[in-house]
Amino acid sequence: MLRFDILTLFPEMVEAVLQHSIPRIAREQGAVEYHLHNFRDFAEGVHQAVDDRPYGGGAGMVLKPEPVFKSIRHVLPQAGPAHMVLLTPQGRRFNQRVAEELAKQPRILMLCGRYEGFDERIRMGFAWDEISIGDYVLSGGELPALTIVDATVRLLPGVLGDDASAHEESFGRGLRGKLLEYPHYTRPIEFEGMKVPEVLQSGHHGEIAKWRLEQALKRTKDRRPDLLDDLHDEE
Ligand SMILES: C[S@@+](CC[C@H](N)C(=O)[O-])C[C@H]1O[C@@H](n2cnc3c(N)ncnc32)[C@H](O)[C@@H]1O
Repeated sequence: MLRFDILTLFPEMVEAVLQHSIPRIAREQGAVEYHLHNFRDFAEGVHQAVDDRPYGGGAGMVLKPEPVFKSIRHVLPQAGPAHMVLLTPQGRRFNQRVAEELAKQPRILMLCGRYEGFDERIRMGFAWDEISIGDYVLSGGELPALTIVDATVRLLPGVLGDDASAHEESFGRGLRGKLLEYPHYTRPIEFEGMKVPEVLQSGHHGEIAKWRLEQALKRTKDRRPDLLDDLHDEE
């Protein structure tokens, strides 16, 4: 069982997404637990301010250290040791390999930033795995946290029901994992003049497998030739 502790100023936003599809199924199966914590609850004063102006001037507000430290110190002892993830555009880039690493953890604590980001002492205060979901700046860490949760829980044993479907996906393991996935078709056989390739209707498993591999190779060459370079690098 994997336990997530997500520290955020918008727990309702995070919970709304966790109530659907695979993240919900994973929770129902007992493969994962989500614990959401609002670090504003740990802020002092009538206004419970979590942010303040930056020393040295400049635009935007910075997350204060006190409520974040307090909330983390409150949450950490609630279960065993946690892998600590700080969501930041300055972190290492998230990808399927990182999702695989995270899926092996028993517990992950994630801190979602807002505003201009964190007071540097928050970064210095804990042994963070700093993770970015890509080279763009979002308004907060909630969507990155949900991206990581979604990609990770679908790798937990039994969550997809059919283990094969995770292995066949793009970015999985082995040669297949270096290739983008082949095209999928379902009924009807013909839609607005576009037909399902005959080989897929043939029931010939060998031919179907060959066609899928060819298509996956072609897609990867056309769209992401860099993935094939990685393959040669590994040889
Ligand atoms: C507006 S951003 C702050 C960006 C910060 N000023 C910088 O340039 O690094 C607010 C928060 O959103 C989250 N965030 C934004 N983009 C992200 C990304 N690409 N990956 C992970 N977290 C991100 C982080 O938690 C960040 O603290």
